[in-house]
Amino acid sequence: MMARSCLELTFCGKHFINPFIISASPASDSREKVERAFIAGWAGVVFKTVSLPEYAPSLASPYMIGIDCKSAKQLGMLNTDLISERTVYDIAEDIRYFKQKYPDRILIGSIMAAYQSHWTQLVEILEDAGADMIELSMSCPQGEQSIARNAEMVSQVIPASDPALMLETTRVVKNAVKKGTPVIVKMTPNVTDIAQLALMAQKGGADAVCAIDTLRGFAGVDVETGRPKLNTNGFGTWGGLSGPLLKPVALAAITKIKTLCPQLPVSGVGGISSWEDAAEFILLGAAPLQICTAISKYGLGLAESLCKNLSAYMERKGYASVSDMLGRSLPYLVEHSKLSRTAHCLCNIDESKCIHCGKCAVCCSDYAYGALSLPADGGAPHVDAELCRGCGACASVCPRNAISYR
Ligand SMILES: Cc1cc2nc3c(=O)[nH]c(=O)nc-3n(C[C@H](O)[C@H](O)[C@H](O)COP(=O)(O)O)c2cc1C
Ligand code: SF4
Ligand code: SF4
Repeated sequence: MMARSCLELTFCGKHFINPFIISASPASDSREKVERAFIAGWAGVVFKTVSLPEYAPSLASPYMIGIDCKSAKQLGMLNTDLISERTVYDIAEDIRYFKQKYPDRILIGSIMAAYQSHWTQLVEILEDAGADMIELSMSCPQGEQSIARNAEMVSQVIPASDPALMLETTRVVKNAVKKGTPVIVKMTPNVTDIAQLALMAQKGGADAVCAIDTLRGFAGVDVETGRPKLNTNGFGTWGGLSGPLLKPVALAAITKIKTLCPQLPVSGVGGISSWEDAAEFILLGAAPLQICTAISKYGLGLAESLCKNLSAYMERKGYASVSDMLGRSLPYLVEHSKLSRTAHCLCNIDESKCIHCGKCAVCCSDYAYGALSLPADGGAPHVDAELCRGCGACASVCPRNAISYR
Protein backbone atom coordinates (compact mmCIF):
# COMPACT_ATOMS: atom_id res chain seq x y z
CA MET A 1 0.00 0.00 0.00
CA MET A 2 1.23 3.50 -0.82
CA ALA A 3 2.44 5.41 2.28
CA ARG A 4 0.49 8.61 2.86
CA SER A 5 2.18 10.82 5.42
CA CYS A 6 -0.91 12.96 6.08
CA LEU A 7 -2.60 9.87 7.55
CA GLU A 8 0.06 9.21 10.18
CA LEU A 9 -0.87 9.97 13.76
CA THR A 10 0.32 9.68 17.33
CA PHE A 11 -2.02 8.27 19.94
CA CYS A 12 -0.93 7.78 23.57
CA GLY A 13 2.64 8.31 22.41
CA LYS A 14 2.47 5.56 19.77
CA HIS A 15 2.98 6.16 16.07
CA PHE A 16 0.28 4.86 13.71
CA ILE A 17 1.06 4.72 9.97
CA ASN A 18 -2.61 5.48 9.28
CA PRO A 19 -5.77 5.77 11.44
CA PHE A 20 -7.21 2.33 10.63
CA ILE A 21 -6.91 -0.66 12.93
CA ILE A 22 -8.83 -3.90 13.29
CA SER A 23 -10.97 -3.94 16.44
CA ALA A 24 -11.21 -6.87 18.84
CA SER A 25 -13.27 -9.21 16.69
CA PRO A 26 -13.23 -12.43 14.67
CA ALA A 27 -11.00 -10.58 12.16
CA SER A 28 -8.27 -10.26 14.80
CA ASP A 29 -8.61 -13.76 16.21
CA SER A 30 -5.77 -15.54 14.38
CA ARG A 31 -2.17 -14.84 13.47
CA GLU A 32 -2.87 -15.67 9.84
CA LYS A 33 -5.67 -13.06 9.49
CA VAL A 34 -3.70 -10.39 11.34
CA GLU A 35 -0.70 -10.99 9.07
CA ARG A 36 -2.93 -10.58 6.02
CA ALA A 37 -4.33 -7.39 7.57
CA PHE A 38 -0.82 -5.97 7.91
CA ILE A 39 0.01 -6.89 4.32
CA ALA A 40 -3.23 -5.13 3.31
CA GLY A 41 -2.05 -1.95 5.07
CA TRP A 42 -3.89 -1.87 8.39
CA ALA A 43 -1.93 0.21 10.91
CA GLY A 44 -2.55 -2.06 13.85
CA VAL A 45 -4.74 -4.58 15.55
CA VAL A 46 -6.64 -5.02 18.77
CA PHE A 47 -6.43 -8.78 19.16
CA LYS A 48 -9.74 -10.40 20.04
CA THR A 49 -10.24 -10.27 23.80
CA VAL A 50 -8.39 -12.99 25.67
CA SER A 51 -7.93 -14.06 29.23
CA LEU A 52 -6.29 -16.82 31.24
CA PRO A 53 -7.05 -20.44 30.31
CA GLU A 54 -9.60 -20.78 33.14
CA TYR A 55 -11.86 -18.26 31.36
CA ALA A 56 -12.23 -20.46 28.25
CA PRO A 57 -15.55 -19.45 26.67
CA SER A 58 -18.30 -21.85 25.79
CA LEU A 59 -19.76 -20.68 22.50
CA ALA A 60 -23.27 -21.47 21.22
CA SER A 61 -23.53 -21.43 17.42
CA PRO A 62 -24.57 -19.74 15.29
CA TYR A 63 -23.51 -16.53 17.01
CA MET A 64 -23.82 -13.88 14.31
CA ILE A 65 -26.75 -12.75 12.20
CA GLY A 66 -27.24 -9.85 9.81
CA ILE A 67 -29.91 -7.28 10.65
CA ASP A 68 -31.66 -6.48 7.36
CA CYS A 69 -34.49 -4.12 6.54
CA LYS A 70 -36.55 -5.37 3.61
CA SER A 71 -34.03 -5.74 0.77
CA ALA A 72 -31.27 -3.73 2.47
CA LYS A 73 -28.76 -6.32 3.69
CA GLN A 74 -26.62 -6.08 6.81
CA LEU A 75 -27.63 -2.67 8.11
CA GLY A 76 -26.30 -4.14 11.28
CA MET A 77 -24.96 -7.34 12.76
CA LEU A 78 -26.15 -9.01 15.95
CA ASN A 79 -23.68 -11.28 17.70
CA THR A 80 -23.63 -13.45 20.76
CA ASP A 81 -19.92 -14.15 20.44
CA LEU A 82 -17.81 -14.33 23.60
CA ILE A 83 -14.12 -13.75 24.18
CA SER A 84 -11.56 -15.63 22.12
CA GLU A 85 -11.01 -19.35 22.46
CA ARG A 86 -7.32 -18.47 22.38
CA THR A 87 -5.62 -17.34 25.58
CA VAL A 88 -3.36 -14.49 26.56
CA TYR A 89 -0.38 -16.82 26.03
CA ASP A 90 -1.29 -17.22 22.32
CA ILE A 91 -1.55 -13.45 21.93
CA ALA A 92 1.80 -12.97 23.67
CA GLU A 93 3.39 -15.29 21.09
CA ASP A 94 1.71 -13.40 18.26
CA ILE A 95 2.94 -10.10 19.64
CA ARG A 96 6.52 -11.37 19.72
CA TYR A 97 6.16 -12.66 16.15
CA PHE A 98 4.65 -9.44 14.76
CA LYS A 99 7.08 -7.18 16.66
CA GLN A 100 9.90 -8.81 14.72
CA LYS A 101 8.17 -8.92 11.36
CA TYR A 102 6.07 -5.73 11.34
CA PRO A 103 7.78 -3.34 13.77
CA ASP A 104 5.83 -0.36 12.43
CA ARG A 105 2.40 -1.83 13.34
CA ILE A 106 0.57 -1.25 16.61
CA LEU A 107 -0.25 -4.37 18.63
CA ILE A 108 -2.96 -4.02 21.26
CA GLY A 109 -3.84 -6.81 23.64
CA SER A 110 -7.48 -6.82 24.76
CA ILE A 111 -8.08 -8.45 28.13
CA MET A 112 -10.91 -9.42 30.44
CA ALA A 113 -10.89 -10.95 33.93
CA ALA A 114 -12.88 -11.07 37.15
CA TYR A 115 -10.19 -10.98 39.85
CA GLN A 116 -7.59 -8.37 40.64
CA SER A 117 -4.78 -10.96 40.59
CA HIS A 118 -5.89 -12.12 37.13
CA TRP A 119 -5.91 -8.61 35.68
CA THR A 120 -2.40 -8.14 37.05
CA GLN A 121 -1.22 -11.41 35.55
CA LEU A 122 -2.70 -10.54 32.13
CA VAL A 123 -0.98 -7.16 32.12
CA GLU A 124 2.36 -8.72 33.05
CA ILE A 125 2.14 -11.28 30.25
CA LEU A 126 1.26 -8.65 27.63
CA GLU A 127 3.95 -6.22 28.79
CA ASP A 128 6.58 -8.98 28.77
CA ALA A 129 5.61 -9.80 25.20
CA GLY A 130 6.01 -6.15 24.18
CA ALA A 131 2.40 -5.12 23.54
CA ASP A 132 2.16 -1.49 22.42
CA MET A 133 -1.06 -0.96 24.34
CA ILE A 134 -3.54 -2.79 26.50
CA GLU A 135 -7.29 -2.53 25.98
CA LEU A 136 -9.55 -3.30 28.90
CA SER A 137 -12.63 -5.07 27.61
CA MET A 138 -15.43 -5.42 30.12
CA SER A 139 -17.94 -3.75 27.82
CA CYS A 140 -19.50 -6.61 25.89
CA PRO A 141 -23.29 -6.88 26.43
CA GLN A 142 -23.05 -10.65 26.74
CA GLY A 143 -19.77 -10.32 28.67
CA GLU A 144 -21.33 -11.01 32.03
CA GLN A 145 -21.93 -14.53 30.76
CA SER A 146 -18.20 -15.05 30.44
CA ILE A 147 -17.36 -13.96 33.92
CA ALA A 148 -20.54 -14.49 35.93
CA ARG A 149 -19.23 -17.75 37.31
CA ASN A 150 -16.34 -15.79 38.79
CA ALA A 151 -18.79 -13.43 40.40
CA GLU A 152 -16.53 -11.72 42.88
CA MET A 153 -16.25 -8.47 40.93
CA VAL A 154 -19.37 -8.64 38.80
CA SER A 155 -23.02 -9.34 39.24
CA GLN A 156 -25.57 -9.43 36.45
CA VAL A 157 -24.31 -6.20 34.93
CA ILE A 158 -21.98 -5.36 32.10
CA PRO A 159 -18.92 -4.52 34.21
CA ALA A 160 -18.15 -1.37 32.20
CA SER A 161 -21.63 -0.03 33.02
CA ASP A 162 -20.89 0.15 36.75
CA PRO A 163 -19.04 3.36 37.72
CA ALA A 164 -17.40 1.90 40.83
CA LEU A 165 -16.24 -1.20 38.98
CA MET A 166 -14.97 0.94 36.12
CA LEU A 167 -12.91 3.09 38.49
CA GLU A 168 -11.60 0.17 40.47
CA THR A 169 -10.71 -2.06 37.51
CA THR A 170 -8.96 0.74 35.63
CA ARG A 171 -6.91 1.47 38.76
CA VAL A 172 -6.04 -2.21 39.19
CA VAL A 173 -4.86 -2.48 35.60
CA LYS A 174 -2.94 0.80 35.69
CA ASN A 175 -1.22 -0.26 38.91
CA ALA A 176 -0.23 -3.52 37.26
CA VAL A 177 1.50 -1.70 34.38
CA LYS A 178 5.24 -1.70 35.03
CA LYS A 179 6.68 -0.68 31.65
CA GLY A 180 4.51 2.34 30.92
CA THR A 181 2.25 0.56 28.43
CA PRO A 182 -0.76 2.81 27.72
CA VAL A 183 -4.14 1.48 28.84
CA ILE A 184 -7.27 2.02 26.74
CA VAL A 185 -10.64 1.35 28.39
CA LYS A 186 -13.42 0.14 26.10
CA MET A 187 -16.79 1.77 26.74
CA THR A 188 -20.22 0.19 26.60
CA PRO A 189 -23.15 2.15 25.15
CA ASN A 190 -25.52 0.16 27.38
CA VAL A 191 -25.63 2.91 29.99
CA THR A 192 -27.58 6.11 30.59
CA ASP A 193 -24.58 8.43 30.70
CA ILE A 194 -21.51 7.09 28.94
CA ALA A 195 -19.52 10.28 29.63
CA GLN A 196 -19.73 9.67 33.39
CA LEU A 197 -18.31 6.19 32.86
CA ALA A 198 -15.48 7.64 30.76
CA LEU A 199 -14.80 10.08 33.59
CA MET A 200 -14.47 7.11 35.97
CA ALA A 201 -12.00 5.48 33.57
CA GLN A 202 -10.05 8.74 33.41
CA LYS A 203 -10.03 9.03 37.20
CA GLY A 204 -8.79 5.45 37.34
CA GLY A 205 -5.82 6.50 35.21
CA ALA A 206 -6.90 5.39 31.72
CA ASP A 207 -4.64 6.81 29.02
CA ALA A 208 -7.52 6.70 26.54
CA VAL A 209 -10.93 5.20 25.96
CA CYS A 210 -12.31 3.29 23.02
CA ALA A 211 -15.93 4.06 22.11
CA ILE A 212 -17.94 1.94 21.61
CA ASP A 213 -18.60 -1.75 22.07
CA THR A 214 -21.85 -3.22 20.77
CA LEU A 215 -25.34 -2.13 21.85
CA ARG A 216 -27.57 -4.78 23.43
CA GLY A 217 -30.11 -6.07 20.94
CA PHE A 218 -32.26 -9.01 19.98
CA ALA A 219 -32.31 -10.18 16.36
CA GLY A 220 -36.06 -10.92 16.29
CA VAL A 221 -38.16 -13.99 15.62
CA ASP A 222 -38.95 -15.96 12.50
CA VAL A 223 -42.67 -15.27 12.19
CA GLU A 224 -43.36 -18.65 10.58
CA THR A 225 -41.86 -20.72 13.38
CA GLY A 226 -42.09 -18.23 16.24
CA ARG A 227 -38.51 -19.13 17.09
CA PRO A 228 -35.64 -16.63 17.48
CA LYS A 229 -33.93 -15.71 14.23
CA LEU A 230 -30.53 -16.33 15.78
CA ASN A 231 -31.43 -19.83 16.73
CA THR A 232 -29.48 -22.46 18.66
CA ASN A 233 -31.59 -25.60 18.79
CA GLY A 234 -34.75 -23.49 18.78
CA PHE A 235 -33.68 -20.99 21.41
CA GLY A 236 -32.09 -17.56 21.23
CA THR A 237 -30.67 -14.89 23.45
CA TRP A 238 -29.76 -11.20 23.60
CA GLY A 239 -26.62 -10.04 21.87
CA GLY A 240 -24.70 -7.02 20.68
CA LEU A 241 -25.57 -4.82 17.71
CA SER A 242 -22.72 -3.59 15.49
CA GLY A 243 -22.34 -2.19 11.98
CA PRO A 244 -23.88 0.89 10.29
CA LEU A 245 -26.91 0.97 12.64
CA LEU A 246 -24.50 1.54 15.52
CA LYS A 247 -22.77 4.58 14.02
CA PRO A 248 -25.07 7.32 15.41
CA VAL A 249 -24.85 5.70 18.84
CA ALA A 250 -21.05 5.71 18.61
CA LEU A 251 -20.94 9.34 17.47
CA ALA A 252 -23.23 10.39 20.33
CA ALA A 253 -21.03 8.51 22.79
CA ILE A 254 -17.81 10.01 21.46
CA THR A 255 -19.11 13.57 21.46
CA LYS A 256 -20.56 13.21 24.95
CA ILE A 257 -17.22 11.88 26.19
CA LYS A 258 -15.27 14.66 24.43
CA THR A 259 -17.60 17.23 26.00
CA LEU A 260 -17.12 16.00 29.58
CA CYS A 261 -13.50 14.83 29.24
CA PRO A 262 -11.96 16.99 26.49
CA GLN A 263 -8.39 15.90 27.26
CA LEU A 264 -9.14 12.17 27.19
CA PRO A 265 -7.99 10.61 23.89
CA VAL A 266 -10.70 8.54 22.20
CA SER A 267 -10.28 5.71 19.72
CA GLY A 268 -13.49 5.51 17.66
CA VAL A 269 -15.37 2.36 16.74
CA GLY A 270 -18.93 1.56 15.71
CA GLY A 271 -20.33 1.26 12.21
CA ILE A 272 -17.39 2.61 10.23
CA SER A 273 -17.42 1.29 6.68
CA SER A 274 -16.47 4.20 4.41
CA TRP A 275 -13.97 7.06 4.25
CA GLU A 276 -16.85 9.45 4.92
CA ASP A 277 -17.65 7.61 8.16
CA ALA A 278 -13.97 7.81 9.08
CA ALA A 279 -13.82 11.53 8.35
CA GLU A 280 -16.87 12.12 10.55
CA PHE A 281 -15.35 10.23 13.48
CA ILE A 282 -12.10 12.20 13.17
CA LEU A 283 -13.88 15.55 12.84
CA LEU A 284 -15.76 14.63 16.03
CA GLY A 285 -12.56 13.96 17.93
CA ALA A 286 -11.86 10.23 17.59
CA ALA A 287 -8.73 8.63 16.12
CA PRO A 288 -7.39 6.03 15.56
CA LEU A 289 -10.44 4.21 14.24
CA GLN A 290 -11.27 0.59 14.85
CA ILE A 291 -13.26 -1.50 12.40
CA CYS A 292 -14.95 -4.87 12.80
CA THR A 293 -18.26 -5.57 11.03
CA ALA A 294 -17.39 -3.82 7.74
CA ILE A 295 -14.58 -6.34 7.25
CA SER A 296 -17.18 -9.11 7.03
CA LYS A 297 -18.72 -7.28 4.07
CA TYR A 298 -15.76 -5.69 2.30
CA GLY A 299 -12.78 -7.80 3.41
CA LEU A 300 -9.35 -6.69 4.54
CA GLY A 301 -8.84 -4.72 1.30
CA LEU A 302 -11.05 -2.04 2.87
CA ALA A 303 -7.95 -0.41 4.44
CA GLU A 304 -6.53 0.52 1.03
CA SER A 305 -9.70 2.28 -0.18
CA LEU A 306 -10.17 4.01 3.19
CA CYS A 307 -6.61 5.35 3.12
CA LYS A 308 -6.76 6.39 -0.53
CA ASN A 309 -10.08 8.21 -0.23
CA LEU A 310 -9.51 9.75 3.19
CA SER A 311 -6.16 11.20 2.11
CA ALA A 312 -7.70 12.58 -1.12
CA TYR A 313 -10.43 14.23 0.98
CA MET A 314 -7.87 15.69 3.38
CA GLU A 315 -5.87 17.12 0.50
CA ARG A 316 -9.02 18.60 -1.04
CA LYS A 317 -10.02 20.21 2.28
CA GLY A 318 -6.50 21.37 3.15
CA TYR A 319 -6.04 19.22 6.27
CA ALA A 320 -2.32 18.65 6.72
CA SER A 321 -2.71 15.74 9.11
CA VAL A 322 -5.19 13.68 11.10
CA SER A 323 -4.38 15.73 14.20
CA ASP A 324 -5.07 18.91 12.23
CA MET A 325 -8.54 17.54 11.46
CA LEU A 326 -9.23 15.98 14.87
CA GLY A 327 -12.28 17.42 16.65
CA ARG A 328 -12.83 20.26 14.18
CA SER A 329 -16.61 19.73 14.24
CA LEU A 330 -16.94 19.54 18.01
CA PRO A 331 -17.47 23.31 18.46
CA TYR A 332 -20.66 23.00 16.41
CA LEU A 333 -22.35 20.73 18.94
CA VAL A 334 -24.57 22.47 21.48
CA GLU A 335 -27.30 21.45 23.89
CA HIS A 336 -30.79 21.46 22.36
CA SER A 337 -31.75 24.53 24.38
CA LYS A 338 -28.99 26.48 22.60
CA LEU A 339 -30.29 25.80 19.09
CA SER A 340 -31.70 28.82 17.28
CA ARG A 341 -35.46 29.26 17.55
CA THR A 342 -35.56 32.06 15.02
CA ALA A 343 -34.48 30.10 11.94
CA HIS A 344 -37.57 28.69 10.22
CA CYS A 345 -36.61 26.33 7.42
CA LEU A 346 -38.75 25.56 4.42
CA CYS A 347 -38.66 22.46 2.25
CA ASN A 348 -36.99 23.17 -1.09
CA ILE A 349 -37.32 20.74 -4.00
CA ASP A 350 -34.66 20.63 -6.71
CA GLU A 351 -36.83 20.02 -9.76
CA SER A 352 -33.87 18.89 -11.86
CA LYS A 353 -33.42 15.89 -9.56
CA CYS A 354 -37.10 15.11 -8.85
CA ILE A 355 -38.58 12.05 -10.58
CA HIS A 356 -42.14 12.86 -9.43
CA CYS A 357 -42.49 9.67 -7.41
CA GLY A 358 -44.71 11.36 -4.81
CA LYS A 359 -43.06 9.71 -1.78
CA CYS A 360 -42.45 13.08 -0.11
CA ALA A 361 -46.09 14.10 -0.55
CA VAL A 362 -47.31 10.88 1.09
CA CYS A 363 -44.84 11.44 3.92
CA CYS A 364 -45.97 15.00 4.49
CA SER A 365 -49.71 14.34 4.25
CA ASP A 366 -49.84 11.10 6.26
CA TYR A 367 -46.99 11.68 8.72
CA ALA A 368 -46.14 15.38 8.89
CA TYR A 369 -48.07 18.59 8.19
CA GLY A 370 -49.78 18.29 4.79
CA ALA A 371 -47.63 20.92 3.09
CA LEU A 372 -46.83 19.06 -0.13
CA SER A 373 -49.19 18.53 -3.05
CA LEU A 374 -48.59 16.77 -6.34
CA PRO A 375 -49.59 18.87 -9.37
CA ALA A 376 -52.19 17.35 -11.67
CA ASP A 377 -49.76 17.62 -14.61
CA GLY A 378 -47.33 15.27 -12.85
CA GLY A 379 -44.55 17.78 -12.09
CA ALA A 380 -42.52 18.15 -8.88
CA PRO A 381 -44.53 18.56 -5.65
CA HIS A 382 -45.61 22.04 -4.67
CA VAL A 383 -44.66 23.33 -1.20
CA ASP A 384 -47.19 25.34 0.78
CA ALA A 385 -44.97 27.72 2.74
CA GLU A 386 -47.72 28.42 5.29
CA LEU A 387 -48.07 24.74 6.22
CA CYS A 388 -44.45 23.60 5.92
CA ARG A 389 -42.75 23.36 9.33
CA GLY A 390 -39.34 22.52 7.85
CA CYS A 391 -39.46 19.36 9.95
CA GLY A 392 -37.09 17.32 7.78
CA ALA A 393 -39.22 14.21 7.29
CA CYS A 394 -39.76 14.47 3.54
CA ALA A 395 -36.04 14.58 2.66
CA SER A 396 -35.54 11.33 4.54
CA VAL A 397 -37.80 9.46 2.09
CA CYS A 398 -36.75 11.10 -1.19
CA PRO A 399 -34.94 8.51 -3.35
CA ARG A 400 -33.11 11.24 -5.31
CA ASN A 401 -31.91 13.50 -2.49
CA ALA A 402 -33.84 16.25 -4.24
CA ILE A 403 -35.02 17.93 -1.03
CA SER A 404 -33.10 20.43 1.04
CA TYR A 405 -34.13 23.09 3.56
CA ARG A 406 -33.53 26.80 3.41
C1 LIG B 1 -18.61 -11.04 16.25
C2 LIG B 1 -18.05 -9.96 17.11
C3 LIG B 1 -17.13 -10.26 18.09
C4 LIG B 1 -16.61 -9.26 18.91
N1 LIG B 1 -15.70 -9.57 19.87
C5 LIG B 1 -15.20 -8.60 20.67
C6 LIG B 1 -14.25 -8.91 21.66
O1 LIG B 1 -13.81 -10.05 21.82
N2 LIG B 1 -13.82 -7.91 22.47
C7 LIG B 1 -14.24 -6.62 22.33
O2 LIG B 1 -13.80 -5.73 23.08
N3 LIG B 1 -15.13 -6.29 21.36
C8 LIG B 1 -15.61 -7.25 20.53
N4 LIG B 1 -16.51 -6.93 19.56
C9 LIG B 1 -16.94 -5.52 19.40
C10 LIG B 1 -16.15 -4.83 18.29
O3 LIG B 1 -14.77 -4.75 18.58
C11 LIG B 1 -16.67 -3.39 18.02
O4 LIG B 1 -16.53 -2.64 19.21
C12 LIG B 1 -18.14 -3.38 17.62
O5 LIG B 1 -18.44 -4.47 16.77
C13 LIG B 1 -18.52 -2.09 16.88
O6 LIG B 1 -17.73 -1.91 15.73
P1 LIG B 1 -18.24 -2.28 14.23
O7 LIG B 1 -19.56 -1.60 14.02
O8 LIG B 1 -17.13 -1.80 13.32
O9 LIG B 1 -18.41 -3.76 14.19
C14 LIG B 1 -17.02 -7.91 18.71
C15 LIG B 1 -17.93 -7.61 17.70
C16 LIG B 1 -18.44 -8.61 16.89
C17 LIG B 1 -19.42 -8.25 15.80
S1 SF4 C 1 -40.39 19.70 5.78
FE1 SF4 C 1 -41.99 18.61 6.90
S2 SF4 C 1 -43.75 19.96 6.77
FE2 SF4 C 1 -42.30 20.69 5.20
S3 SF4 C 1 -42.90 19.64 3.35
FE3 SF4 C 1 -41.36 18.34 4.32
S4 SF4 C 1 -42.52 16.90 5.60
FE4 SF4 C 1 -43.89 18.57 5.05
S1 SF4 D 1 -39.69 12.19 -3.03
FE1 SF4 D 1 -38.08 13.31 -4.12
S2 SF4 D 1 -38.16 12.51 -6.20
FE2 SF4 D 1 -40.06 11.88 -5.20
S3 SF4 D 1 -41.51 13.50 -5.70
FE3 SF4 D 1 -40.59 14.08 -3.78
S4 SF4 D 1 -38.86 15.39 -4.34
FE4 SF4 D 1 -39.48 14.30 -6.17
